[in-house]
Amino acid sequence: MKTEERPRSTFASKFKDIQLALTFGDVLILPGRAEVEPSEVDVHTHVTKRHKLNIPFVSSPMDTVTESEMAIALARQGGLGVVHRNCAAEEQVEMVKRVKRAEALIIRDVITVTPNDTVGQALSLMERHNISGLPVVEGSKLVGIVTGRDVRFAQATLLVKQVMTNEVVKAEEGTSLEEAQSLLRDHKIEKLPIVSKAGELSGLITFKDILLRGKYPDAARDENGHLLCAAAVSPFDLERAKKLDEFADILVTDVSHFHNVNVFKATKKLMAEVSAEVIVGNIGTYQAAEDAIAELERVGGFRVGIGSGSICTTAEVTKAGSPTLFATAQVSDAVAKYGANIPIIADGGIRTPGDAAIALTAGASAVMAGNLFARCRESPGTLITIGGRYYKQYRGMGSPTARAKRYSLDRYSMPSKGVPEGVEGWVPYKGEVNIVLDELVSGLRASMGYAGAKNIEELWHKATLAALSPSGAEEAGPHDILLPSETQERV
Ligand code: XMP
Repeated sequence: MKTEERPRSTFASKFKDIQLALTFGDVLILPGRAEVEPSEVDVHTHVTKRHKLNIPFVSSPMDTVTESEMAIALARQGGLGVVHRNCAAEEQVEMVKRVKRAEALIIRDVITVTPNDTVGQALSLMERHNISGLPVVEGSKLVGIVTGRDVRFAQATLLVKQVMTNEVVKAEEGTSLEEAQSLLRDHKIEKLPIVSKAGELSGLITFKDILLRGKYPDAARDENGHLLCAAAVSPFDLERAKKLDEFADILVTDVSHFHNVNVFKATKKLMAEVSAEVIVGNIGTYQAAEDAIAELERVGGFRVGIGSGSICTTAEVTKAGSPTLFATAQVSDAVAKYGANIPIIADGGIRTPGDAAIALTAGASAVMAGNLFARCRESPGTLITIGGRYYKQYRGMGSPTARAKRYSLDRYSMPSKGVPEGVEGWVPYKGEVNIVLDELVSGLRASMGYAGAKNIEELWHKATLAALSPSGAEEAGPHDILLPSETQERV
């Protein structure tokens, strides 16, 4: 049918059937019958089909938000960091490796020396990897151990076999954590090599890791006790994805408009080549989720919301977007319709714990935030003072300065568009990430308490949202009172 022959109502229906793309400030969770107290609420969740988190908070893959330090801190508190990709592939892989090496129940990729290596070589390995001891192996057979004390004051040209301890305290594969702990304590040692029945080195348990495990009981870990770590990928950079796949638990596509045939094709290829679970996004509509479910076999999760980020100008510049709350509800419906059981990560625009609760109510399993985490000590952005107050740098990945690094230009289309879709600025400094997480988790628990939901699944099925009128939204904040902060500003 030619365009001019179309009935006029086709155009009018764009207004008649117009959708209401509500966002966080437009709704409230209606209080429900509560049978649990906020302190009893369970906030455990799935971030992908396979991977669980103990709190539903994920940091954005942005170069002023998530590098190793943020990813380690978040995983220790039970959340997840997605390491950004605005750098060379080697740098990103190194950041992921740092997270995976930060803690372990049993270290499997043990760094070793041979008896004929020199003391100098052993020392430089210890320094490079920031470790205090190395098992000594011949082939894969454990024959000794050297520690910092053995090599620090020895001549660099001596051989490892001249300074190593030959009688190694070791344990067999299958030794429990408690047994390992007693061995370490009884022998006053810090490292316990794990060996097979044939005496081949198969792992290493360290005292430091046991201490850290006790210190962070709620950490998000993999099956070997390493902290969970995700990494951002471009579907068009298969080589980088394959390198990251060796270390990261989860890969997250970092594309502003995932619902695009070229992106789908590239992602399909990528999924066939990697073993990690892949979270795909960003998407914002029922149709996008439906197509992804139908065309991509291994979707591990959906990253949802387009144009809501605090540094985004996408929706302003292009007048295209899907607010995170609306997008979450759309995608949740598609996931439910197909019984796909794919977790949804609501990404962008999260300002308060209540926003997170609303996103979860709309069907999300976790929320992703950049702005809230950029404020923390662990984010890589620069710390500055303005008027006696501390701020941290925060920028969109489509901002002119982030684009100048060029590595993630293809986030915004292929080939990359010339228009910036983000801004750069400053966010107030908040201190350590656990302070921000404490506020988020306690606030979320309180919201769930009001909703009468004892876990996130109950929030999906029991809680109801109500739309606010503009005067309702105004009433929802403090009003008719002069606040101390405003008083100070006037003085
Ligand atoms: P918040 O609200 O936490 O949102 O700052 C973070 C999310 O914003 C997205 N993001 C961008 N979106 N232009 C955009 O349109 C950008 O430059 C940009 N940088 C990040 C991303 O989804 C992130 O998780």
